[in-house]
Amino acid sequence: MYKLIKPILFQLDPEKAHGMTIDALKLTQKYPIFLPVIRQMFHYENPVLQQQIHGISFDNPIGLAAGFDKSCEVPKALEKAGFGALELGGITPKPQPGNPKPRMYRLIEDYALINRMGFNNLGMNKALSNLRKYSYQTPIGLNVGVNKATPYEARYEDYIKVISTFKNDVSFFTVNISSPNTENLQSFHDKDEFSQLCKAIQNFKDKESLNVPIFIKLTSDLSLEGLGHMLEPITQTFDGIILANTTQKREDLQSDNRVETGGLSGKPLFERNLELISYAYKQTKGQFLIIGTGGIFDTSDVITMLRHGASLVQIYSSLVFEGPGLTKKLNKQLASYLKSNGYNSVKDIIGLDVK
Ligand SMILES: Cc1cc2nc3c(=O)[nH]c(=O)nc-3n(C[C@H](O)[C@H](O)[C@H](O)COP(=O)(O)O)c2cc1C
Repeated sequence: MYKLIKPILFQLDPEKAHGMTIDALKLTQKYPIFLPVIRQMFHYENPVLQQQIHGISFDNPIGLAAGFDKSCEVPKALEKAGFGALELGGITPKPQPGNPKPRMYRLIEDYALINRMGFNNLGMNKALSNLRKYSYQTPIGLNVGVNKATPYEARYEDYIKVISTFKNDVSFFTVNISSPNTENLQSFHDKDEFSQLCKAIQNFKDKESLNVPIFIKLTSDLSLEGLGHMLEPITQTFDGIILANTTQKREDLQSDNRVETGGLSGKPLFERNLELISYAYKQTKGQFLIIGTGGIFDTSDVITMLRHGASLVQIYSSLVFEGPGLTKKLNKQLASYLKSNGYNSVKDIIGLDVK
């Protein structure tokens, strides 16, 4: 069915097409009679795909990446769409409009997107009230960002404010220091600033006796050496690492839209992010949770990321190109790969290809 709708959607401005998708999902939440229909179409269950990680039950390893539902407007509908987890947000303490439009581009020839959204979201209080309208069986994570107007020295407090506000309502948090669309956010990758951030997060965790896992999401543009320096403080402060967010590099791209500024996502990210994942897996001796994201389009991409050390993966851009049926297809084919190769659990293949 997506094959029929896609040419129409691709005539529209990408953000408009996204807005229409969110509106359609809102309708299914308003008329819940549709929710079982979505589940019937997109959900696939198989015990071989299940994992328990940090006390959270993931029905399958295919998660929705951050940025799709920026203000927790459609989690109940998304929950029916077959994902093993949903990462909502990025959320900032105060509402903000984000960058001027247009700010999202398709790179059709490259199976990629460029976005410079700039953390457009309704703010933490509205997002929380949206989230609280329903209860959920699927793990819900929250991607946390920083307001554009927050003074430089106070930025790490924004993360604490959002985590503190949602601490009883989500299964995990992701501290996002890797969006290229908020000035200086990526400077948290620098040693001193990162150690200050880790200290603030650790203090908060100790003070609140927080038992919700916190992950950190890094940029795809980090060198292996840079990642190597960050791994020790990461493993001491955080519960997992998401590798990796978008890139600002523009290599070997065909589409005219490659000149746009912002973060590039989709197929061109895959090999780079795979390199970061297998390096992190090796350095942490397979003892630290890695979530892989970037350019996953088919089941062989999922298998490759898991075999290189990711325990879970997340997708966004491929949903735009392949449609919502992708999640079910990936899960079904992954289960069949595991069964036909004699594996009893998705856990059995994690890190197998890391030498
Ligand atoms: C339009 C758009 C908005 C995004 N917003 C966020 C965000 O708010 N926070 C975040 O950590 N990542 C954000 N991302 C990055 C995705 O979560 C994901 O890490 C990245 O797109 C790579 O995966 P993909 O190649 O499957 O899209 C966004 C991506 C897109 C395309």
